[in-house]
Amino acid sequence: MKSWDELKTECMQCRRCKLGDTRTNLVFGVGNPNADLMFIGEGPGEQEDLRGEPFVGRAGQFLDQMLALINLSRDDIYIANIVKCRPPNNRDPQPDERTACSEWLFAQIELINPRLIVCLGRIAAMCLINPDFKITREHGQWTPFLGGREITAIYHPAALLRDPAKRPETFVDLKSIQAKYSAL
Ligand code: URA
Repeated sequence: MKSWDELKTECMQCRRCKLGDTRTNLVFGVGNPNADLMFIGEGPGEQEDLRGEPFVGRAGQFLDQMLALINLSRDDIYIANIVKCRPPNNRDPQPDERTACSEWLFAQIELINPRLIVCLGRIAAMCLINPDFKITREHGQWTPFLGGREITAIYHPAALLRDPAKRPETFVDLKSIQAKYSAL
């Protein structure tokens, strides 16, 4: 297994897919590399690409508020994305880009070794839980994941900004994350 520093150094130079041609900065991830709880989003947006850090735009500020509701901060968890470079015009990451990037994400999961993983939104859930994942029906459900972990998905913070009617259900999901986390 690579060390964390080796992984990061190699990943930062990645040119495995075409997103490497258009990125400003690669967005490796942020937080506690020994976290028991890992959040995984879709891919960097404009602000994230400019700053090299995940979830720093409007959706990211909302994510911080969601975490605060269950007494968590970015220092308690690790946050990464399915793809580490911004898809142009914020389009969905394409299958070849997700595949090219998955080795980095799985190496991060192996090194961080979180007990619980939370997918932020449909794309992350389709990549990690089930290609047919339906976020409206299946958000908040826990499923076994590689290495004796458990995984769930909640609405993406950008979706919650667009549609506040989804927030009460997400509050229930956050409470379930809090309960699992406190029981570890
Ligand atoms: N949306 C994501 O899925 N990830 C980010 O890092 C920012 C916005």
